[in-house]
Amino acid sequence: MAKEIWRPGNMLYPTPAVMVSCMREGEKPNIITVAWAGTICSDPAMLSISVRKERYSYDILKETGEFVVNLTSKKLTRAADWCGVRSGREYDKFKEMNLTPLESQKISAPGIAESPVNIECKVKQSIDLGSHTIFIAEVMCVTVDDKLLDDKGKLDLGKAKLVAYSHGEYFMLGEKVGKFGYSVAKKATAKKAKKKK
Ligand SMILES: Cc1cc2nc3c(=O)[nH]c(=O)nc-3n(C[C@H](O)[C@H](O)[C@H](O)COP(=O)(O)O)c2cc1C
Repeated sequence: MAKEIWRPGNMLYPTPAVMVSCMREGEKPNIITVAWAGTICSDPAMLSISVRKERYSYDILKETGEFVVNLTSKKLTRAADWCGVRSGREYDKFKEMNLTPLESQKISAPGIAESPVNIECKVKQSIDLGSHTIFIAEVMCVTVDDKLLDDKGKLDLGKAKLVAYSHGEYFMLGEKVGKFGYSVAKKATAKKAKKKK
């Protein structure tokens, strides 16, 4: 396989493209689209978002230490893109995109009612990395659209039609190609079958 050698750059794709909502007390809520987001700890549940200082949302995040990560569904993709190219300095993004603020359970910042999953977060630490500041946050509560639950109450996230971001483009998640642990589960089944013989 022939390879080209490129200079350092961001190439960790796909990423999510989440709609992060935040709000200063007494002001309108805002939404910033964030692709530099990730899960960073299971217990306690923690995630991170990286935000440039120039963003209108940056000061809100710094001052309030709260935000909601709203997952982006296919239906929300246009709004996610719009909220990622327009600033809360000039627009009320909830109004412009016909989105409904959703009262949060554990924090003051509202989520987005139209998003299938809302992850309420409190900032534990912020680190200035250069172009971006990483906000390391603990998950305080998760709300899920009950239409995504099956009759046994199990979450079927496939129904949410989530969108991923890859090298400047948005994609629907496609064909299922496996599930957690399937690579060894197959072997275990084969072993069991052998033993039975
Ligand atoms: C798909 C997508 C991903 C983005 N990811 C980030 C990101 O990870 N961090 C960031 O600071 N800005 C990111 N942006 C840019 C901001 O969302 C954009 O500058 C937005 O207008 C900021 O809004 P605000 O000024 O209201 O805070 C992204 C934009 C798009 C469209």
